[in-house]
Amino acid sequence: MKQVFLETHGCQMNVADTDRMEALLFHSGYLRTDAVENADLIIVNTCSIREKAVHKIYSLFGTYRPMKERNPDLILGLTGCLAQQEGENLVKRAPHINFVMGPDGVDRVVEIVQAASTSNEPRIWIEFDKHKEYSIPEIAPLPGQAVSPSAFVNIIKGCDKFCSFCVVPYTRGREKSRTADEICAEARQLIDRGAREIILLGQNVNAYGKRDLDPPVAFHELLYRVAEIPGLERLRFTTSHPRDFTPETVAAFGDLDVLVNHLHLPVQSGSDRVLEEMRRGHGVDEYLGLIQALKDTAPDIEFSTDIIVGFPSETERDFEMTLELMEKVGFSNSYMFQYSARPNTPAADWPDTSSEEEKKRRLQRTIDLQNRLTQEQGQRYLGKNVEVLVEGLSRRSENEGTPRWRGRTPHYWSIQFDDPELKVQPGDLVTVQVEGQRGQSLFGSMMDCHEKNSRKNSVTA
Ligand code: 5AD
Ligand code: SF4
Repeated sequence: MKQVFLETHGCQMNVADTDRMEALLFHSGYLRTDAVENADLIIVNTCSIREKAVHKIYSLFGTYRPMKERNPDLILGLTGCLAQQEGENLVKRAPHINFVMGPDGVDRVVEIVQAASTSNEPRIWIEFDKHKEYSIPEIAPLPGQAVSPSAFVNIIKGCDKFCSFCVVPYTRGREKSRTADEICAEARQLIDRGAREIILLGQNVNAYGKRDLDPPVAFHELLYRVAEIPGLERLRFTTSHPRDFTPETVAAFGDLDVLVNHLHLPVQSGSDRVLEEMRRGHGVDEYLGLIQALKDTAPDIEFSTDIIVGFPSETERDFEMTLELMEKVGFSNSYMFQYSARPNTPAADWPDTSSEEEKKRRLQRTIDLQNRLTQEQGQRYLGKNVEVLVEGLSRRSENEGTPRWRGRTPHYWSIQFDDPELKVQPGDLVTVQVEGQRGQSLFGSMMDCHEKNSRKNSVTA
């Protein structure tokens, strides 16, 4: 078999796209390799969400050029959001690239690899999928490949929100939802093959069903349908937009045992004026109202968020309001970014009002605050028992005798524990007593290893 080296940058959508390309290529005679020097085909699945991500990818071009010079038959392809955004510019910049393909081309990867291998001209495929429906046809799983205990299922692609800073609507196109039947069939298959947790995935997951879905199914209805699948222990979804959150979805947190009490809900800023400039379509009070409604429904719910600092026109006062909001909600985790102007977005033309140094200082202050909040939240678990879904061995385990496992609590804390009696396997649900915290990770001792536990989000004293 020929060999393909696949490299993924960016978000979970890209990870899912890479997995899909791996499976499609396998069935056309390519085996995935971790050794780039053995590859007949290299695919870099790119990200363009922030400038830093893009720089990283450009520097890779230089790395692969000598390999291509040594082996002219090697096929080098760029896929993903940067490929979509830059198209032909990429081959102008790096003529050794054989193909450039946007995210909507993933299901045609075999076709484009074949076209690229029989032509000296680079192939560029950045058409958006014109179909109204979004389908991911089932393909046979890879032989011997284990399913992760926590498995992602794409439910929607694209984004129609057009936040003024974000490239996603331009690189991933309009929102398109998969049918609920197709989603449930995939989830059922993953659970049959060993998954215990399903994470419903999309750029804007709770816009599910809002456009052209036939038959129509609302997002909360989908949650109820997936939750019914036998064998499912935990259900999550990411990423949500506050504006698309319905009261029915809030209620689902109270109704559904398997829906865990953790939510990633990006807020971006704590200033109404900045939120308006960002075109988020909601203010601080609406965000806090939603947080409160969720807390009323599920009192032990925890939240994580995304924050941008240094957005054009952000003042020191605006920034302080972001810190105040973080403190008020008490996020257990935040993904914090310094604003970077992205091509084609409205905000890219707006004057930058804070210096690079100022942005860095603001970023550091959000990181320091989040570290404190995470520390405070984590300390509340000390001495308590938490239910852990075991995902795999921790890295430390590989060079020591006793297996050390890593997993996640319902509230999405990463946690590690030892297994001196060799009782545990990936996919087990285990009760662990929390003994300590290192940043966003907890560690503790195993109290009990049980096959099944549908009791929601259990934390016991
Ligand atoms: N600059 C900085 N951060 C950005 N994000 C999206 N676009 C930008 C940008 N231009 C962040 C947002 C989003 C997360 C996925 O990436 O916080 O929620
Ligand atoms: Fe980007 Fe906004 Fe869409 Fe999220 S909701 S993907 S930030 S445009």
